[in-house]
Amino acid sequence: MSDSDISSILTAPDPYGQSTEFAYPDYPDMRADFTIDQGYAHYTDEDHAVWRDLMQRQLAILPGRACDEYFDAYASMDLSQSHIPHFDDYSDRLMRATGWQIVAVPGLIPNTHFFTHLANKRFPVTHWIRPRATLDYIQEPDLFHDFQGHVPLLLNPVFAGYMEAYGKGGLKALKAGTLSEISRLYWYTVEFGLIRNKEGLRIYGAGIVSSKTESVFALESQSPNRIGFDLRRIMKTDYRIDDFQESYFVIDSFEDLFAQTAEQDFLPIYDEIKNSPLLKPWDIAPGDAMLHRGTRDYVLKR
Ligand SMILES: [Fe+2]
Repeated sequence: MSDSDISSILTAPDPYGQSTEFAYPDYPDMRADFTIDQGYAHYTDEDHAVWRDLMQRQLAILPGRACDEYFDAYASMDLSQSHIPHFDDYSDRLMRATGWQIVAVPGLIPNTHFFTHLANKRFPVTHWIRPRATLDYIQEPDLFHDFQGHVPLLLNPVFAGYMEAYGKGGLKALKAGTLSEISRLYWYTVEFGLIRNKEGLRIYGAGIVSSKTESVFALESQSPNRIGFDLRRIMKTDYRIDDFQESYFVIDSFEDLFAQTAEQDFLPIYDEIKNSPLLKPWDIAPGDAMLHRGTRDYVLKR
């Protein structure tokens, strides 16, 4: 495990399905849908200082790297750099813009509840922030990753529509037994997606946007592959949860992502790809639209 700021801090569907690991005995007031009150009064001065320091260092890195849509949304949020945000305040702003809300959760939640929240335009945000001792790396999603990484793009109507459709698709995938396939789509878009714009590639995935080092690695390292978005290919591509990605997939626009996913019926696609081999994270497949063929030097040097 690297000591760098590796983005396995993700609010992603649990690929292992409905687990018994979601018991939260320390949250007696947790509701049946796994939501809780944010408990704002419990944040310490140190919690706010951690938020401030994480925000400041990401804002120093993201210009020229994060996509315009992220910055447009970020600017309209007027997100506090000095204090942890009140979820209710930003829920009101989101509701007015795209109809979304933020709900506080204790951490990862079962897939059924995660997908149901998204399908109903509720984004679950972990209520606690990482301690300073683990500023650069935590295994679970925390408030900073969930809020700074995910929430701004919920102000973008097209991306917000994709997230809602993803939740509905996730519920269908649970019934179809294709959780792994749809989880890979989330991973390679919502968490680790790249987008092309006039000036070149930019990042939009929350796992990258909230990571000091992957924000640079994803765009500037020669090591990983950068491949044009391909829904079927992504659904059959394994991913790394404990280190930088070995392949990033690049969309042309959020409109194009929406058209290729939210407007498609996945059931025949699942049937079409069910016998396709599962690709390793570093594999190149026939038909890949290669923007950059990775050297894997980061991996090989480790
Ligand atoms: Fe996430």
